[in-house]
Amino acid sequence: MVKQNQSIMVLLPLFLILAISAEVEGAKLFVFGDSYLDTGNYLNSVSYKPPYGITFPGYPAGRFGNGRILTDYLASFLKIETPTPYALKNSSNLQNGINFAFGGTGVFQTRVNGPNLTVQIDSFEQLIKQNVYSKSDVESSIVIVNAGANDYITFILKDRNLFGIAKYIKSLVDELTINLKRIHSLGAGKIVVSLLQPVGCLPTVSVASLYNDCIDLFNNVPRDHNKIILQNVENLNKESGKSVFRTLDLYNSFLSAIEEKQKSRQENSTLVNPLEPCCAPLKAGYECGKVDENGKKKYTVCEKPELSFFWDTVHPAQNGWYSIFKQLESSLSQIIGTNF
Ligand SMILES: *[C@@H]1O[C@H](CO)[C@@H](O)[C@H](O)[C@H]1NC(C)=O
Ligand SMILES: *[C@@H]1O[C@H](CO)[C@@H](O)[C@H](O)[C@H]1NC(C)=O
Ligand SMILES: *[C@@H]1O[C@H](CO)[C@@H](O)[C@H](O)[C@H]1NC(C)=O
Repeated sequence: MVKQNQSIMVLLPLFLILAISAEVEGAKLFVFGDSYLDTGNYLNSVSYKPPYGITFPGYPAGRFGNGRILTDYLASFLKIETPTPYALKNSSNLQNGINFAFGGTGVFQTRVNGPNLTVQIDSFEQLIKQNVYSKSDVESSIVIVNAGANDYITFILKDRNLFGIAKYIKSLVDELTINLKRIHSLGAGKIVVSLLQPVGCLPTVSVASLYNDCIDLFNNVPRDHNKIILQNVENLNKESGKSVFRTLDLYNSFLSAIEEKQKSRQENSTLVNPLEPCCAPLKAGYECGKVDENGKKKYTVCEKPELSFFWDTVHPAQNGWYSIFKQLESSLSQIIGTNF
């Protein structure tokens, strides 16, 4: 008995020290991609205009939603603060990593004149060269990449048909894979790429069903895209001999979160329709956050933004991101946590 107590007394302080040092060290988070992860890089966009940010932080602050987005929930899972957007960085706010993600951008050039994935990685490389981050900072950091949706939108708007899309998917994922390899060659040891969301469920598409259902035909693109990513990630890990690369299943978590809310609503019809956007354009061609020359709003905002799954026609609201995060949570310790 005495012996056991003694060993507990010896081990307990040791355990505390280990737990505390793990906490203090807190891995850094480096974020690349588009508006699903951007927390403030796209200055002068709608993300800095009302009604964006209305739920959190309470004013427009650069997130494409009414509040917290996936980046915030991933950072909180890692027990760190949301990393600073690259556009707002200074010498004293770099300790949690940096967010390079820029709304509207993609792997290739899109309709938005912002830094594509390659250019975002160039900025990361520059910071490493300038010794802003040490080798061990980068090695122990977690990298998250989410890109591709804006490339598909650009492709479809340009070509106006889906012929040739298979070839385009392949070239896009191949380019994305080159970028993942490059991030690894810069020293990152934990690289997570997200699977493409079910675009057929986004309000801009599901409006065709009057928000009754996802348009499954449109989900063929993410399904094919994701199949190739999973294959490429497996190959990358084989090449590197370690499981450096992981995928974050934004496809199934997104779908399950929506289905769960649809099911609850079948039992209680007063709940909000998850497919309906809170901030809705008054007519086709209008956008949430835009005003006309007289300052008159071109959109309407729902009564309780904190209850909506979608904020605008393409972005989840805070509640949506929270439910997606909840779907992902059980797998996160394998993907970005201590069991990586
Ligand atoms: C650094 O940026 C943060 C906001 O990101 C700001 O609150 C802080 O005052 C800035 N610090 C300096 C030294 O400029
Ligand atoms: C990314 O942008 C840079 C600068 O505009 C351009 O030179 C490069 O070709 C782009 N990369 C891809 C893969 O489209
Ligand atoms: C239905 O949902 C509303 C919230 O919209 C809630 O106030 C009400 O209690 C729910 N009713 C049932 C029977 O669960």
